[in-house]
Amino acid sequence: MTPPKKISLTRYLVEQQRIDGLIPGQLRLLLEVVARACKSISHAVNKGALGNVLGSAQSENVQGEVQKKLDIIANEVLIEANEWGGHLAGMASEEMDAIYVVPNRYPKGEYLLLFDPLDGSSNIDVNVSIGTIFSVLHMPEDDRGVDEGDFLQPGSRQVAAGYCVYGPQTTLVLTVGDGVAMFTLDREQGSFVLTQENVRIPADTQEFAINMSNMRHWAPPVRRYIDECLQGKDGPRGKDFNMRWIASMVADVHRILTRGGIFMYPWDQREPNKPGKLRLMYEANPMAWLIEQAGGAATNGKERILDLQPTKLHERVSVILGSKNEVERVTSYHSEL
Ligand code: AHG
Ligand code: MN
Ligand code: MN
Repeated sequence: MTPPKKISLTRYLVEQQRIDGLIPGQLRLLLEVVARACKSISHAVNKGALGNVLGSAQSENVQGEVQKKLDIIANEVLIEANEWGGHLAGMASEEMDAIYVVPNRYPKGEYLLLFDPLDGSSNIDVNVSIGTIFSVLHMPEDDRGVDEGDFLQPGSRQVAAGYCVYGPQTTLVLTVGDGVAMFTLDREQGSFVLTQENVRIPADTQEFAINMSNMRHWAPPVRRYIDECLQGKDGPRGKDFNMRWIASMVADVHRILTRGGIFMYPWDQREPNKPGKLRLMYEANPMAWLIEQAGGAATNGKERILDLQPTKLHERVSVILGSKNEVERVTSYHSEL
């Protein structure tokens, strides 16, 4: 029997462009470049202490978080890979205060790229899965110069979104609005190979992911939901629940796309004026779209994440995403109060 054909990311994208007309040439090029950058970040991650990439960079980002060396390396890799290809007008990153306009020496394209270059920074030094999250928007029509306002589009306007998880395997997960596909990095070939198509999340789950150490700060609807899960078979849910918390959103979302589950980083009372910890543009929007494309749901407790109109680049948001019936349950608890 002949072994099944290996479909590279390049071939997958070309076929999406040819068969479905889903991907314009420029977008295909952009996604290839992002994948190449992720490959390069993956190599840096793998080197670890041998590549002198671990530890802190002695600097802070705009959100007041201490930057790790890899946060900065990954950010630079993504900028350098994407600025010259002619497919982008600008970029925005969790690690940069302001937007990055493609320099005049390069041709400008019609897309905007947003990213969390290194998600799960606290896991870098302890050799636990981390990742890169990205989101692609189209420049608004008839817009001559790129400015921050051009990026402030709701997640429903994304034209591509994905992440690359650097774990036991390096896996790139992508949507262009036609379902979710997963590609595993084949290090011998040096390319991403399609390993799963039409990813689907089961509507029900018995597994939740939340940082339990914040329990005393949560709002009542979140407390109620988790409390009911913890009561297991003896409580109103009538079944036992399992818990996982990796502290890398990419790794938690990857598990949910693989076997279902619910992930929450809700608003809490520690900083009542902050809507949540996670960032709308770099984390919540791309992940929400991937989850919806796989049949799941994503809300901030009240509204669908993809419908939120961003008001600033580094905006934060409360996040509840994953298996549809569970997300709907937590969301309904919010409206009952
Ligand atoms: P980042 O490393 O990009 O700042 O994101 C970390 C995020 C997310 O990946 C994860 O789910 C969460 O922070 C973990 O937060 P806690 O350490 O508060 O659990
Ligand atoms: Mn992150
Ligand atoms: Mn980050």
